[in-house]
Amino acid sequence: MIYTLMHKNTAVADIEIDDAISVVARIHDVYDIRHLPVGVAVGDGAPDRKLLNDWWVGRSIPASRQGIQDALEALEISSPQLLIDKCLGLSLSDQYWVRPVKSNIVWDDINFFTNAFSGDVGNILFGGTVRAGGADLMSPDNTSDGWLRKKWIIADGKRCLMKGGSNPFRQEPLNEVLATAIMSRLGIPHVPYTVIFDGRENFSVCENFLTPQTELVSAWYIMRTLKRPNSTSSYQHFLACCDAIGISRAEDAMAQMLALDFLIVNEDRHLNNFGAVRNAKTLEWLGIAPIYDSGTSMWHDLPTNEIGIKGTDKSKPFRSTHKEQIKLANSLEFVDFSKLSDIEEVANDIYKKALFIEQERRERLCLAVSRRVQLLEQECVSHRRVSHRDMVPQTE
Ligand SMILES: Nc1ncnc2c1ncn2[C@@H]1O[C@H](COP(=O)(O)OP(=O)(O)OP(=O)(O)O)[C@@H](O)[C@H]1O
Ligand SMILES: [Mg+2]
Repeated sequence: MIYTLMHKNTAVADIEIDDAISVVARIHDVYDIRHLPVGVAVGDGAPDRKLLNDWWVGRSIPASRQGIQDALEALEISSPQLLIDKCLGLSLSDQYWVRPVKSNIVWDDINFFTNAFSGDVGNILFGGTVRAGGADLMSPDNTSDGWLRKKWIIADGKRCLMKGGSNPFRQEPLNEVLATAIMSRLGIPHVPYTVIFDGRENFSVCENFLTPQTELVSAWYIMRTLKRPNSTSSYQHFLACCDAIGISRAEDAMAQMLALDFLIVNEDRHLNNFGAVRNAKTLEWLGIAPIYDSGTSMWHDLPTNEIGIKGTDKSKPFRSTHKEQIKLANSLEFVDFSKLSDIEEVANDIYKKALFIEQERRERLCLAVSRRVQLLEQECVSHRRVSHRDMVPQTE
Protein backbone atom coordinates (compact mmCIF):
# COMPACT_ATOMS: atom_id res chain seq x y z
CA MET A 1 0.00 0.00 0.00
CA ILE A 2 1.21 3.51 -0.73
CA TYR A 3 1.40 6.02 2.08
CA THR A 4 2.68 9.53 2.44
CA LEU A 5 5.29 9.68 5.16
CA MET A 6 4.23 12.68 7.23
CA HIS A 7 6.14 14.74 9.75
CA LYS A 8 3.31 16.26 11.76
CA ASN A 9 1.63 18.31 8.98
CA THR A 10 4.51 18.19 6.49
CA ALA A 11 4.38 15.67 3.64
CA VAL A 12 7.86 14.13 3.40
CA ALA A 13 7.69 11.39 0.76
CA ASP A 14 5.38 8.81 -0.75
CA ILE A 15 6.48 5.34 0.27
CA GLU A 16 5.22 1.89 -0.53
CA ILE A 17 4.88 -0.43 2.44
CA ASP A 18 4.57 -4.13 1.84
CA ASP A 19 1.69 -4.73 4.24
CA ALA A 20 2.29 -8.48 4.48
CA ILE A 21 5.61 -7.96 6.24
CA SER A 22 5.57 -4.21 6.95
CA VAL A 23 8.73 -3.20 5.14
CA VAL A 24 9.43 -0.15 3.00
CA ALA A 25 9.34 -1.67 -0.47
CA ARG A 26 9.84 1.52 -2.50
CA ILE A 27 10.29 5.24 -2.16
CA HIS A 28 8.24 7.22 -4.68
CA ASP A 29 8.10 11.03 -4.78
CA VAL A 30 10.09 12.91 -2.17
CA TYR A 31 8.50 16.21 -1.17
CA ASP A 32 10.73 17.57 1.57
CA ILE A 33 14.15 16.13 2.28
CA ARG A 34 14.69 18.45 5.24
CA HIS A 35 11.92 16.64 7.10
CA LEU A 36 13.21 13.13 6.51
CA PRO A 37 13.91 11.21 9.73
CA VAL A 38 17.42 12.08 10.92
CA GLY A 39 20.09 9.72 9.63
CA VAL A 40 18.22 8.09 6.72
CA ALA A 41 19.59 10.26 3.92
CA VAL A 42 22.65 9.53 1.83
CA GLY A 43 25.24 12.00 0.46
CA ASP A 44 22.96 14.04 -1.81
CA GLY A 45 20.22 14.26 0.83
CA ALA A 46 17.97 11.69 -0.86
CA PRO A 47 16.50 8.97 1.38
CA ASP A 48 18.11 5.57 1.26
CA ARG A 49 15.52 2.78 1.14
CA LYS A 50 17.43 0.42 3.41
CA LEU A 51 18.06 3.14 5.99
CA LEU A 52 14.45 4.30 5.82
CA ASN A 53 13.29 0.71 6.19
CA ASP A 54 15.57 0.18 9.22
CA TRP A 55 14.09 3.32 10.74
CA TRP A 56 10.53 2.15 10.02
CA VAL A 57 11.09 -1.34 11.41
CA GLY A 58 12.90 0.25 14.37
CA ARG A 59 9.56 1.87 15.28
CA SER A 60 8.14 -1.49 16.24
CA ILE A 61 8.20 -3.10 19.66
CA PRO A 62 11.50 -4.99 19.88
CA ALA A 63 11.23 -8.78 19.69
CA SER A 64 13.08 -8.92 23.03
CA ARG A 65 10.28 -7.05 24.88
CA GLN A 66 9.00 -8.94 27.91
CA GLY A 67 5.60 -10.43 27.19
CA ILE A 68 5.62 -9.65 23.46
CA GLN A 69 5.19 -13.26 22.30
CA ASP A 70 2.13 -13.82 24.47
CA ALA A 71 0.70 -10.48 23.39
CA LEU A 72 1.18 -11.28 19.69
CA GLU A 73 -0.46 -14.65 20.18
CA ALA A 74 -3.42 -13.05 21.91
CA LEU A 75 -3.71 -10.50 19.11
CA GLU A 76 -3.20 -13.18 16.45
CA ILE A 77 -0.48 -11.11 14.82
CA SER A 78 2.72 -12.78 13.69
CA SER A 79 5.28 -10.01 14.29
CA PRO A 80 5.52 -6.69 16.17
CA GLN A 81 6.22 -4.92 12.87
CA LEU A 82 2.69 -5.62 11.76
CA LEU A 83 1.41 -3.42 14.57
CA ILE A 84 3.12 -0.27 13.31
CA ASP A 85 0.77 0.70 10.51
CA LYS A 86 -2.26 -0.29 12.63
CA CYS A 87 -1.72 3.02 14.44
CA LEU A 88 -0.53 4.82 11.29
CA GLY A 89 3.00 4.66 12.71
CA LEU A 90 2.12 7.34 15.27
CA SER A 91 4.14 7.50 18.46
CA LEU A 92 4.43 9.59 21.61
CA SER A 93 8.17 10.12 21.15
CA ASP A 94 8.19 11.79 17.73
CA GLN A 95 5.87 13.34 15.16
CA TYR A 96 6.19 10.94 12.23
CA TRP A 97 3.24 8.97 10.84
CA VAL A 98 1.99 7.53 7.58
CA ARG A 99 -1.12 8.70 5.74
CA PRO A 100 -2.68 6.42 3.14
CA VAL A 101 -2.52 8.30 -0.19
CA LYS A 102 -5.88 9.66 -1.22
CA SER A 103 -6.79 10.01 2.46
CA ASN A 104 -7.26 13.46 3.92
CA ILE A 105 -6.60 12.66 7.56
CA VAL A 106 -4.83 15.47 9.40
CA TRP A 107 -2.39 15.19 12.32
CA ASP A 108 -4.57 17.29 14.63
CA ASP A 109 -7.31 14.68 14.47
CA ILE A 110 -5.26 11.57 15.06
CA ASN A 111 -2.07 12.33 17.03
CA PHE A 112 -1.71 10.70 20.47
CA PHE A 113 -0.44 13.87 22.14
CA THR A 114 -3.84 15.55 22.08
CA ASN A 115 -6.27 12.74 21.21
CA ALA A 116 -7.31 9.78 23.33
CA PHE A 117 -5.85 6.40 22.43
CA SER A 118 -6.67 2.77 23.05
CA GLY A 119 -5.18 1.02 26.09
CA ASP A 120 -5.82 -2.43 24.63
CA VAL A 121 -2.32 -3.24 23.38
CA GLY A 122 -0.74 -1.92 26.59
CA ASN A 123 -3.09 -3.99 28.71
CA ILE A 124 -2.42 -7.11 26.66
CA LEU A 125 1.34 -6.48 27.00
CA PHE A 126 0.74 -6.43 30.76
CA GLY A 127 -0.93 -9.83 30.59
CA GLY A 128 -4.55 -8.79 29.96
CA THR A 129 -6.85 -10.54 27.52
CA VAL A 130 -8.36 -9.35 24.27
CA ARG A 131 -11.79 -7.96 24.94
CA ALA A 132 -14.90 -9.16 23.14
CA GLY A 133 -15.16 -7.56 19.75
CA GLY A 134 -11.37 -7.52 19.33
CA ALA A 135 -8.62 -5.15 20.35
CA ASP A 136 -8.53 -1.53 19.26
CA LEU A 137 -5.02 -1.17 17.87
CA MET A 138 -4.87 2.63 17.74
CA SER A 139 -2.21 2.88 20.42
CA PRO A 140 1.23 4.42 21.01
CA ASP A 141 2.18 1.11 22.61
CA ASN A 142 2.54 -0.33 19.09
CA THR A 143 5.53 1.95 18.50
CA SER A 144 7.23 1.99 21.90
CA ASP A 145 10.84 0.88 22.24
CA GLY A 146 12.74 -0.96 24.97
CA TRP A 147 12.74 -4.43 26.47
CA LEU A 148 10.93 -3.80 29.76
CA ARG A 149 7.19 -4.30 29.94
CA LYS A 150 5.59 -0.88 29.50
CA LYS A 151 2.46 1.00 28.47
CA TRP A 152 1.36 4.58 27.88
CA ILE A 153 -1.42 5.82 30.11
CA ILE A 154 -3.27 9.10 30.46
CA ALA A 155 -3.32 10.28 34.10
CA ASP A 156 -4.82 13.67 35.01
CA GLY A 157 -4.79 14.47 31.31
CA LYS A 158 -1.02 13.81 31.05
CA ARG A 159 0.58 11.15 28.88
CA CYS A 160 2.74 8.97 31.12
CA LEU A 161 4.92 5.95 30.49
CA MET A 162 4.43 3.17 33.01
CA LYS A 163 7.24 0.62 33.12
CA GLY A 164 7.90 -2.59 35.05
CA GLY A 165 11.09 -4.22 36.27
CA SER A 166 12.85 -7.48 35.60
CA ASN A 167 12.96 -10.56 37.78
CA PRO A 168 13.93 -11.43 40.39
CA PHE A 169 14.27 -8.06 42.14
CA ARG A 170 12.20 -5.82 39.83
CA GLN A 171 14.55 -3.08 40.93
CA GLU A 172 14.57 -0.88 37.82
CA PRO A 173 11.56 1.30 38.81
CA LEU A 174 13.24 2.14 42.14
CA ASN A 175 16.55 2.79 40.40
CA GLU A 176 14.77 5.34 38.21
CA VAL A 177 13.60 7.12 41.35
CA LEU A 178 17.12 7.10 42.83
CA ALA A 179 18.50 8.52 39.56
CA THR A 180 15.80 11.21 39.73
CA ALA A 181 16.84 12.13 43.29
CA ILE A 182 20.52 12.36 42.35
CA MET A 183 19.85 14.43 39.24
CA SER A 184 17.55 16.87 40.96
CA ARG A 185 20.19 17.40 43.66
CA LEU A 186 22.92 17.98 41.08
CA GLY A 187 20.82 20.17 38.80
CA ILE A 188 21.02 17.72 35.88
CA PRO A 189 18.12 18.10 33.41
CA HIS A 190 16.14 14.89 33.71
CA VAL A 191 12.80 13.19 33.32
CA PRO A 192 11.41 12.73 36.86
CA TYR A 193 10.21 9.22 37.71
CA THR A 194 8.01 8.11 40.58
CA VAL A 195 7.07 4.62 41.65
CA ILE A 196 3.54 3.28 41.81
CA PHE A 197 2.14 0.02 43.08
CA ASP A 198 -0.50 -1.92 41.29
CA GLY A 199 -1.50 -5.11 43.05
CA ARG A 200 1.66 -7.11 43.66
CA GLU A 201 3.96 -5.16 41.37
CA ASN A 202 6.00 -1.93 41.42
CA PHE A 203 6.21 0.25 38.34
CA SER A 204 7.95 3.47 37.44
CA VAL A 205 5.91 6.28 35.94
CA CYS A 206 7.23 9.31 34.11
CA GLU A 207 5.48 11.99 32.12
CA ASN A 208 6.06 12.36 28.43
CA PHE A 209 8.85 14.95 28.13
CA LEU A 210 7.85 15.76 24.55
CA THR A 211 5.06 18.02 23.44
CA PRO A 212 2.94 18.28 20.28
CA GLN A 213 5.71 20.56 19.01
CA THR A 214 8.80 18.52 19.85
CA GLU A 215 10.36 15.12 19.28
CA LEU A 216 13.20 12.92 20.47
CA VAL A 217 15.98 11.89 18.09
CA SER A 218 18.19 9.24 19.63
CA ALA A 219 21.99 9.35 19.59
CA TRP A 220 21.88 6.32 17.29
CA TYR A 221 20.44 8.47 14.48
CA ILE A 222 22.39 11.61 15.38
CA MET A 223 25.59 9.60 14.91
CA ARG A 224 24.49 8.73 11.38
CA THR A 225 24.49 12.32 10.21
CA LEU A 226 28.24 12.36 9.46
CA LYS A 227 30.57 9.68 8.20
CA ARG A 228 32.83 8.60 11.05
CA PRO A 229 36.54 8.80 10.23
CA ASN A 230 38.48 5.73 11.39
CA SER A 231 40.65 7.84 13.66
CA THR A 232 37.71 9.34 15.55
CA SER A 233 36.39 7.81 18.77
CA SER A 234 32.66 7.27 19.11
CA TYR A 235 32.53 10.06 21.71
CA GLN A 236 34.29 12.57 19.47
CA HIS A 237 32.07 11.50 16.62
CA PHE A 238 28.90 12.05 18.63
CA LEU A 239 30.07 15.55 19.61
CA ALA A 240 31.09 16.31 16.02
CA CYS A 241 27.63 15.28 14.75
CA CYS A 242 25.93 17.44 17.39
CA ASP A 243 28.10 20.35 16.38
CA ALA A 244 27.45 19.85 12.67
CA ILE A 245 23.67 19.73 12.97
CA GLY A 246 23.36 22.48 15.57
CA ILE A 247 22.80 20.76 18.93
CA SER A 248 24.41 23.09 21.42
CA ARG A 249 26.11 22.35 24.76
CA ALA A 250 26.25 18.64 24.03
CA GLU A 251 29.60 18.22 25.77
CA ASP A 252 28.34 19.72 29.04
CA ALA A 253 25.22 17.54 28.93
CA MET A 254 27.34 14.45 28.28
CA ALA A 255 29.51 15.21 31.33
CA GLN A 256 26.33 15.25 33.43
CA MET A 257 25.12 11.99 31.95
CA LEU A 258 28.46 10.26 32.43
CA ALA A 259 28.64 11.41 36.06
CA LEU A 260 25.15 10.11 36.81
CA ASP A 261 25.93 6.81 35.12
CA PHE A 262 29.16 6.49 37.11
CA LEU A 263 27.28 7.05 40.37
CA ILE A 264 24.55 4.49 39.74
CA VAL A 265 26.73 2.10 37.71
CA ASN A 266 24.41 2.25 34.74
CA GLU A 267 25.25 -0.58 32.42
CA ASP A 268 22.83 0.15 29.62
CA ARG A 269 23.24 3.71 28.35
CA HIS A 270 23.07 2.50 24.76
CA LEU A 271 22.58 4.89 21.87
CA ASN A 272 18.79 4.82 22.11
CA ASN A 273 18.87 5.71 25.79
CA PHE A 274 19.85 9.33 25.19
CA GLY A 275 19.47 11.81 22.39
CA ALA A 276 18.36 15.31 21.52
CA VAL A 277 15.08 17.15 21.15
CA ARG A 278 14.03 19.20 18.16
CA ASN A 279 11.01 21.17 17.04
CA ALA A 280 9.17 19.04 14.50
CA LYS A 281 7.97 22.01 12.47
CA THR A 282 10.94 24.39 12.44
CA LEU A 283 13.51 21.56 12.85
CA GLU A 284 15.33 23.76 15.35
CA TRP A 285 17.35 21.70 17.89
CA LEU A 286 16.45 22.47 21.47
CA GLY A 287 19.39 20.59 22.98
CA ILE A 288 20.29 17.24 24.48
CA ALA A 289 17.19 15.50 25.86
CA PRO A 290 16.64 15.40 29.61
CA ILE A 291 18.04 12.13 30.93
CA TYR A 292 15.61 9.20 30.81
CA ASP A 293 15.87 5.41 31.27
CA SER A 294 18.46 5.00 34.01
CA GLY A 295 16.93 1.89 35.57
CA THR A 296 19.34 -0.77 34.31
CA SER A 297 21.81 0.17 37.02
CA MET A 298 22.58 -0.40 40.72
CA TRP A 299 23.49 -4.08 40.24
CA HIS A 300 19.83 -4.65 39.41
CA ASP A 301 20.27 -8.28 38.38
CA LEU A 302 23.16 -9.37 40.59
CA PRO A 303 22.75 -11.40 43.76
CA THR A 304 22.88 -9.35 46.95
CA ASN A 305 26.33 -10.52 48.00
CA GLU A 306 27.83 -9.24 44.74
CA ILE A 307 26.50 -5.68 45.04
CA GLY A 308 29.35 -3.20 45.07
CA ILE A 309 31.86 -5.95 44.31
CA LYS A 310 31.10 -7.37 40.90
CA GLY A 311 29.71 -5.67 37.83
CA THR A 312 30.84 -2.23 38.97
CA ASP A 313 32.62 -1.42 35.82
CA LYS A 314 30.44 -2.27 32.87
CA SER A 315 29.50 0.87 30.98
CA LYS A 316 28.12 2.08 27.64
CA PRO A 317 28.20 3.66 25.13
CA PHE A 318 31.59 5.34 24.76
CA ARG A 319 33.88 3.16 26.90
CA SER A 320 33.40 -0.29 28.37
CA THR A 321 34.19 0.72 31.97
CA HIS A 322 32.92 3.66 34.02
CA LYS A 323 36.44 4.32 35.21
CA GLU A 324 37.50 5.00 31.63
CA GLN A 325 34.26 6.59 30.50
CA ILE A 326 34.19 9.24 33.21
CA LYS A 327 37.53 10.53 31.94
CA LEU A 328 35.73 11.76 28.83
CA ALA A 329 33.77 14.35 30.84
CA ASN A 330 34.95 17.85 29.93
CA SER A 331 34.47 18.93 33.53
CA LEU A 332 33.07 17.49 36.74
CA GLU A 333 33.05 20.82 38.53
CA PHE A 334 29.24 20.87 38.49
CA VAL A 335 29.07 17.96 40.95
CA ASP A 336 28.33 19.49 44.35
CA PHE A 337 29.19 16.64 46.68
CA SER A 338 27.59 18.37 49.66
CA LYS A 339 24.25 17.70 47.94
CA LEU A 340 24.97 13.97 48.04
CA SER A 341 26.12 13.72 51.64
CA ASP A 342 22.86 12.01 52.68
CA ILE A 343 22.72 9.66 49.70
CA GLU A 344 22.48 6.58 51.94
CA GLU A 345 19.32 7.86 53.62
CA VAL A 346 17.89 8.96 50.30
CA ALA A 347 18.49 5.51 48.80
CA ASN A 348 17.16 3.79 51.89
CA ASP A 349 13.88 5.71 51.73
CA ILE A 350 13.50 4.78 48.07
CA TYR A 351 14.37 1.08 48.27
CA LYS A 352 12.27 0.64 51.42
CA LYS A 353 9.22 0.97 49.20
CA ALA A 354 10.33 -1.83 46.86
CA LEU A 355 8.22 -4.96 46.83
CA PHE A 356 11.02 -7.36 45.89
CA ILE A 357 14.03 -5.95 47.76
CA GLU A 358 14.68 -7.26 51.23
CA GLN A 359 16.48 -5.46 54.03
CA GLU A 360 19.91 -6.98 53.39
CA ARG A 361 19.84 -6.06 49.72
CA ARG A 362 18.63 -2.58 50.53
CA GLU A 363 21.48 -2.03 52.98
CA ARG A 364 24.04 -3.24 50.45
CA LEU A 365 22.58 -0.91 47.81
CA CYS A 366 22.71 2.10 50.14
CA LEU A 367 26.31 1.44 51.12
CA ALA A 368 27.31 0.76 47.54
CA VAL A 369 25.88 4.00 46.18
CA SER A 370 27.59 6.04 48.89
CA ARG A 371 30.84 4.30 47.92
CA ARG A 372 30.23 5.36 44.32
CA VAL A 373 29.91 8.96 45.51
CA GLN A 374 33.31 8.66 47.19
CA LEU A 375 34.80 7.13 44.06
CA LEU A 376 33.43 9.96 41.92
CA GLU A 377 34.95 12.44 44.34
CA GLN A 378 38.33 10.76 43.82
CA GLU A 379 37.81 10.87 40.06
CA CYS A 380 37.10 14.60 40.33
CA VAL A 381 40.42 15.17 42.05
CA SER A 382 42.38 13.34 39.37
CA HIS A 383 40.24 14.97 36.68
CA ARG A 384 41.15 18.40 38.06
CA ARG A 385 44.82 17.45 38.09
CA VAL A 386 44.70 16.32 34.46
CA SER A 387 42.77 19.42 33.32
CA HIS A 388 45.24 21.62 35.18
CA ARG A 389 48.21 19.87 33.58
CA ASP A 390 46.61 20.35 30.16
CA MET A 391 46.39 24.08 30.76
CA VAL A 392 50.00 24.52 31.87
CA PRO A 393 52.23 25.03 28.82
CA GLN A 394 54.41 21.94 28.44
CA THR A 395 58.14 22.55 28.28
CA GLU A 396 60.65 20.28 26.58
N1 LIG B 1 9.13 10.16 29.25
C1 LIG B 1 9.20 9.84 27.96
N2 LIG B 1 8.62 10.62 27.02
C2 LIG B 1 8.68 10.30 25.71
N3 LIG B 1 9.33 9.22 25.24
C3 LIG B 1 9.93 8.41 26.13
C4 LIG B 1 9.91 8.68 27.52
N4 LIG B 1 10.61 7.72 28.16
C5 LIG B 1 11.03 6.87 27.21
N5 LIG B 1 10.63 7.28 25.99
C6 LIG B 1 10.88 6.60 24.71
O1 LIG B 1 10.53 5.25 24.90
C7 LIG B 1 11.65 4.39 24.68
C8 LIG B 1 11.59 3.23 25.64
O2 LIG B 1 11.63 3.70 26.97
P1 LIG B 1 12.77 3.22 27.95
O3 LIG B 1 14.09 3.47 27.32
O4 LIG B 1 12.52 3.87 29.26
O5 LIG B 1 12.44 1.67 28.04
P2 LIG B 1 13.36 0.43 28.47
O6 LIG B 1 12.53 -0.78 28.29
O7 LIG B 1 13.91 0.69 29.83
O8 LIG B 1 14.52 0.48 27.40
P3 LIG B 1 15.86 -0.43 27.30
O9 LIG B 1 15.56 -1.51 26.35
O10 LIG B 1 16.83 0.58 26.82
O11 LIG B 1 16.14 -0.90 28.71
C9 LIG B 1 12.87 5.30 24.84
O12 LIG B 1 13.97 4.82 24.12
C10 LIG B 1 12.34 6.63 24.30
O13 LIG B 1 12.38 6.62 22.89
MG1 LIG C 1 15.65 2.36 26.88
